Amino acid sequence: MRRSISLVEVLLVLASICESPWAVWSSSQCTQTSSREVRPHSVTITEFGAVGDGIILNTKAFQNAIFYLKSFTDKGGAQLFVPAGRWLTGSFELISHLTLLLDKEAIILGSTHPDDWPVVDPLPSYGRGRELPGARHRSLIYGSNLIDVIITGDNGTIDGQGHVWWNWFRNGNLNYTRPHLVEFINSTGVVISNLTFLNSPFWTIHPVYCSQVLVQKATILAPLHSPNTDGIDPDSSSDVCIEDCYISTGDDLISIKSGWDEYGISYARPSTNIIIRRIVGQTLSSSGIAIGSEMSGGVSEVHAEGLQFFNSKTGIRIKTAPGRGGYVRNIYVSDVKLTDVKMAIRFTGQYGEHPDEFYDPNALPIINNVTFKDIRGDNISIAGLLEGVEGESFQNICLSNITLNVTSTSPWKCSFIKGYSDLVYPETCEPLRERIFPEHSSACYHLSNHLQSLSGRKRPTWLLPRLSLSFTVL
Ligand SMILES: *[C@@H]1O[C@H](CO)[C@@H](O)[C@H](O)[C@H]1NC(C)=O
Ligand SMILES: *[C@@H]1O[C@H](CO)[C@@H](O)[C@H](O)[C@H]1NC(C)=O
Ligand SMILES: *[C@@H]1O[C@H](CO)[C@@H](O)[C@H](O)[C@H]1NC(C)=O
Ligand SMILES: *[C@@H]1O[C@H](CO)[C@@H](O)[C@H](O)[C@H]1NC(C)=O
Ligand SMILES: *[C@@H]1O[C@H](CO)[C@@H](O)[C@H](O)[C@H]1NC(C)=O
Ligand SMILES: *[C@@H]1O[C@H](CO)[C@@H](O)[C@H](O)[C@H]1NC(C)=O
Ligand SMILES: *[C@@H]1O[C@H](CO)[C@@H](O)[C@H](O)[C@H]1NC(C)=O
Ligand SMILES: *[C@@H]1O[C@H](CO)[C@@H](O)[C@H](O)[C@H]1NC(C)=O
Repeated sequence: MRRSISLVEVLLVLASICESPWAVWSSSQCTQTSSREVRPHSVTITEFGAVGDGIILNTKAFQNAIFYLKSFTDKGGAQLFVPAGRWLTGSFELISHLTLLLDKEAIILGSTHPDDWPVVDPLPSYGRGRELPGARHRSLIYGSNLIDVIITGDNGTIDGQGHVWWNWFRNGNLNYTRPHLVEFINSTGVVISNLTFLNSPFWTIHPVYCSQVLVQKATILAPLHSPNTDGIDPDSSSDVCIEDCYISTGDDLISIKSGWDEYGISYARPSTNIIIRRIVGQTLSSSGIAIGSEMSGGVSEVHAEGLQFFNSKTGIRIKTAPGRGGYVRNIYVSDVKLTDVKMAIRFTGQYGEHPDEFYDPNALPIINNVTFKDIRGDNISIAGLLEGVEGESFQNICLSNITLNVTSTSPWKCSFIKGYSDLVYPETCEPLRERIFPEHSSACYHLSNHLQSLSGRKRPTWLLPRLSLSFTVL
């Protein structure tokens, strides 16, 4: 006989779900972290004939080691240890329940020969390679359809030796879109921690169609003028946590994406529940945190805080275009320190860049509920260049407690956007001048919640929609 469930019991269950190990959205920390998974079986790459002299190609050794470790996936998984040395390799593919562990002095070096980076199908949400039509090169470290996979080390190094790719790109010698350094497709439970990533040929870390992804204590470096060397690009992925990273590259440090125009719209896989915190970095040509420009599957529930960007072009940027469709909503960015940054905040509604001529120019992106709070900037040229798309699709943009020491005499420029503000210096543009408090606080994402949490509520309500999913399991 079923007895009815009281409201108190429902609340208790919800509270316990909030404490579950994969609660990346919990307010205090992204968990499943320091407890480095202990695998019952471990091998060292030298047992498979690898030579760490930086000259001999070790692709076969990595492939053979991982093939051998496949027999342990249903026995608790296994670990592949890479000791000190310079381990040159082409692209290799990981398996589920695997830990790839690098020694402090271990350096995995990407081959400088394009044939060592096989060519694979484009992603369905892009319809083609990002920079060239058709196929694309596979990343150096690759995984698809995996669960529970860890790449970690005592700050060991993965170096893509991307300069050869940057030159092929600049000289027009590429046959296919450049590879990422690390890519996971359709995988769940991915941890990337305690490592240094150098010189990616293209974007550095690219989780796409993934969930439960943690990137922690990563140092990501590429020359400031290297082309498209984004740091971390969560793409059509959910429950992603990125924390305690230092990133200095030639393009966006973190860019949240979800597919491109008609391909992204029909694939319809959003990026949602993204936590970003304690990120330090610089980018001369791009942004600290970007959303888009590929956002056609939608981007929502992004919480970013504790950001410090210096010597950079833009602090935070949303990029989109007519034809993208999709949405960017429920974005909360707070506690940001900008130093020597040209533009603190930028919205670009006419970014352009389309996969082909078949996009629908009437597919307008909807940008709603974007809150920027507690931002300080020194030596900023322009406070905000906020350009929406004609037709009221950029709404509820809220600015609270923003103090920028700007050099421009017209620090804010706004078009086709609407919103509210409080405590913004220099004074913001006219379409955002209406005050947030008291009457518009409910229109400002997370600001009303924030007040409630100050008055005793612990958990932000933006977490609740996901919890109902877990609840049905009980
Ligand atoms: C990261 O490395 C430090 C030592 O450098 C170690 O104490 C810590 O446990 C490592 N964390 C993870 C998640 O592996
Ligand atoms: C995604 O991975 C799961 C295994 O984790 C698999 O069952 C599913 O078929 C994969 N989906 C696609 C589109 O490959
Ligand atoms: C890891 O190595 C990078 C590159 O050498 C260095 O900049 C960084 O400080 C190191 N991180 C830690 C935690 O030691
Ligand atoms: C492109 O293709 C040509 C002809 O097959 C080949 O010679 C060249 O090495 C390729 N370039 C790259 C960067 O793969
Ligand atoms: C201000 O920032 C710019 C870069 O945006 C830099 O070139 C300049 O040296 C900085 N000025 C001061 C006084 O630090
Ligand atoms: C405004 O933001 C700064 C950090 O930039 C913070 O120290 C301060 O407490 C905030 N003020 C209010 C009123 O929230
Ligand atoms: C703004 O920067 C200038 C030049 O660096 C400095 O003289 C001034 O005191 C700063 N103003 C504020 C309010 O921090
Ligand atoms: C925008 O945020 C408010 C709360 O701040 C919420 O009520 C509303 O549903 C959000 N809008 C969308 C489109 O998610």
